[in-house]
Amino acid sequence: ALFTIVEQETCIACGACGMNAPEVFDYDDEGLAFSLLDGNKGIAEVAEELEDEVMEAYYGCPTDSIKISEFGPFNGDPQKFA
Ligand code: F3S
Repeated sequence: ALFTIVEQETCIACGACGMNAPEVFDYDDEGLAFSLLDGNKGIAEVAEELEDEVMEAYYGCPTDSIKISEFGPFNGDPQKFA
């Protein structure tokens, strides 16, 4: 299973993740990205058909703010597996 969360502290609102994975990432009023899957808690399993685009968003983020985990959910903490 794959989980994802955005580290908003380091997001610079570049807009790449929503392009790469429009079904997974959107932006708040300040342009900061968040995961649509679970209100950016990192607790919802990424559906298998969305895993490829999440990986593209992961590799495409210039500030490494897209976090991914295969070990379990983030429970709201982007640094949980850092
Ligand atoms: Fe922010 Fe990275 Fe997306 S900088 S807008 S999380 S691609």
